Amino acid sequence: DKGGHKHFMAKEIAEQPGVIGQALSHYVTDAGEIILPDGGVDFTKIDRITMVACGTAFYACLVAKYWFEQVARIPVEVDVASEFRYREPPIPANTLALFVSQSGETADTLAALRYCDGKAQRTLSVINVPESSIARESDLSLPIYAGVEVGVASTKAFTCQLTVLILLVLKAAHARGEMDDAKLADHISALRGLPSIINTALEQNETMREAAFKLSAARDVLFLGRGKMYPLALEGALKLKEISYIHAEAYASGELKHGPIALVDEDVPVIVMAPRDALFDKTVSNMQEVMARNGKVILISDAEGLAEASNGVWSTIEMPKVADLLTPILYAIPAQLLAYHTAVAKGTDVDQPRNLAKSVTVE
Ligand code: M6R
Repeated sequence: DKGGHKHFMAKEIAEQPGVIGQALSHYVTDAGEIILPDGGVDFTKIDRITMVACGTAFYACLVAKYWFEQVARIPVEVDVASEFRYREPPIPANTLALFVSQSGETADTLAALRYCDGKAQRTLSVINVPESSIARESDLSLPIYAGVEVGVASTKAFTCQLTVLILLVLKAAHARGEMDDAKLADHISALRGLPSIINTALEQNETMREAAFKLSAARDVLFLGRGKMYPLALEGALKLKEISYIHAEAYASGELKHGPIALVDEDVPVIVMAPRDALFDKTVSNMQEVMARNGKVILISDAEGLAEASNGVWSTIEMPKVADLLTPILYAIPAQLLAYHTAVAKGTDVDQPRNLAKSVTVE
C-alpha cells in the first residue's frame, strides 16, 4: 500500500518525521535518558570502534565516524564490508565492532560480523529487521524502528540509522565524561525537535522538483560536501545513480582541485551541500571555483547560508536551521528528493531500479 503516494519511495520519504520520532521514543525516556537494551555497551571499556556496512548503510557509518570522533573522542575506522572481510584486519581486543544494515541479511556485512566474532570485545548491530541474521548473530542488536522499507533506494532506513547512531554517540560521550548532563539534555531536546524540522524540509518539495527537472537533462552530476556533509554528498550521488541512472559522483569539497574540477563545464551540474556551519566558507570558496569554470551550481543551505552565497548559482534549495550535530539527518531529505524527482522526470522505475535487489544476500 503506497498510502496515496505514486511510489513506495515517496511514501517512505514522507514517513521520516514519524519513524524518527518512533526510534527516539524507543530509546529515550521522558526524563531524557538514553536507554539501550540488554545493558547496552560500556563505552568506558572501548578504545576504538570499527564500523562495517555496504551502500547507504556505509554512508551512515561515515557520518557516525565524524560524530564519534568529534563528540565522544573515540577513534573510528569505517570500511565497506566486501573489503573488510577479505582484508582480514587485526582487531585489537578493546574494539567495539559495529555493523549497520537495513535488511540484516547483506552477505558481506554478515561475513564481516562473523569475522569479528570472538576478536572484538563486543559486536553490535544497528538493523531494521529484528529477526535477521545480523541481528541474531551480534552480541547486541539495536532496531531502528523504521518499519518495512519497500523501495530499493534506502531512505527512511538511512535517517533512522543516523538517529540510533547519534544516540549511541551521545551515550558514549556522556559515559566517557566528554559531555555533561546539561549538554546532553540540549542534544536530546534538539533531537526531539527534529521530526518537525524535517517536515519543514519536506515542504520544499516543489523547489526540489524544479531543480530535479533541470538535473534530469544532465549526463554527469557532481556532489560536494565537507566534514559530515561529505557522506551526505556520497549518499546524494548514490541515490541519483541508483534510480535515475545519471552518472553522479561525490567529492569532499577540498578534493576538487586535486582532479575532479577538470570535469566541470556548463554541462555538469554541481550540487553543493553546505549548511551555514564552521566549514561553510571553505565549501563556498570551492563552489566559487566551480562557478568560475561555468559549472552550474545547485546550492543546498539554510537561509543564512543562501543569503551569503547564492549569488550567481543555478538553483537554491533552502533547508530549515537545525542544531549543527543534526545537519546530516536533515540534509538526507534533499539528497533523496532530488534523486526521486529526477527519476520521475526521466520515467525510470523508481521503486525497482534495473539490476538492483533490495537485499543483497549473495556477494
Ligand atoms: O540491507 P543493507 O542496509 O545491508 O543494504 C546495504 C545496501 O545494499 C543498500 O543500502 C543499498 O546501497 C541501497 N539500495 C541504497 O539505496
